[in-house]
Amino acid sequence: MGALDGQHVLVTGGSSGIGKACAQRYRAEGATVYVADIRPQSSDEIHLDVSDSAAWTALVESLPPLDMVHLNAGITTPGRNLNDQPMAPLEDVTDEGYRAILGVNLDGVFFGARAVLPGMVARGSGHVLVTASMAGLGGMPGDVAYTATKHAVVGLVKSLGATLERSGTPGVYVSAICPGFVDTPLVAAEAQEFITAMGMPVIEPARVAEAAMQALEAKANGSQWIVWGDTIRMHEPPALDL
Ligand SMILES: NC(=O)c1ccc[n+]([C@@H]2O[C@H](COP(=O)([O-])OP(=O)(O)OC[C@H]3O[C@@H](n4cnc5c(N)ncnc54)[C@H](O)[C@@H]3O)[C@@H](O)[C@H]2O)c1
Repeated sequence: MGALDGQHVLVTGGSSGIGKACAQRYRAEGATVYVADIRPQSSDEIHLDVSDSAAWTALVESLPPLDMVHLNAGITTPGRNLNDQPMAPLEDVTDEGYRAILGVNLDGVFFGARAVLPGMVARGSGHVLVTASMAGLGGMPGDVAYTATKHAVVGLVKSLGATLERSGTPGVYVSAICPGFVDTPLVAAEAQEFITAMGMPVIEPARVAEAAMQALEAKANGSQWIVWGDTIRMHEPPALDL
């Protein structure tokens, strides 16, 4: 028996890196997995630009009711040269690069959640899992726009979680995983060398998939899960009673 037996699961950005590892894990746990990506790698994968609201509507209409949706697609700020300039100054972020990263990392999560949550609420079951980042919990130096988008999606997850709890919607959950550095094409080899030389861990994508399973099993609305080296744990900042 797998933890996701019989479930229909959608993973965005599932053609590479963390999303690919999570899709493999969900299949191993018994789910039927739909991978949607702007660069699909096979005919089984669906083309989707997560920043396109209309495309989300069409995708959700074309699929069976979804039990779990992993909003994972993300990019770093286009145009930043991480290898030559890890601490690229703010003025080097172009308008186009800024809009592009907001489109994928924030709009993509907002539009995705908006497209799938009403159906889950109507059915009384479902989980939206977001890949945020440790950069969503702390002020990571360097890619400031990336850090801003990841804080924004952590805020979205917290607020959606609180809304589901306050409105008494049992069986529907929203949570976030917040990995540190992961060995994927998002983090160039040279950058990984720099990170390792600084004494920070670079983990395998399969470890993030393990964290995703723990977040799903915990069913804790609005929770954020730190994935750093060997550690997987729920982030517990001081509660603010809003
Ligand atoms: N690699 C890390 O160190 C790290 C750490 C923390 C969080 N994350 C986050 O994990 C997520 C996955 O990143 P990854 O490291 O696996 O990178 P990756 O580049 O290997 O995978 C990202 C995937 O998203 C897809 N994608 C990009 N733009 C898209 C769009 N507009 N619509 C649909 N798909 C799109 C890409 O084609 C790619 O397949 C991202 O949200 C990233 O911010 C990564």
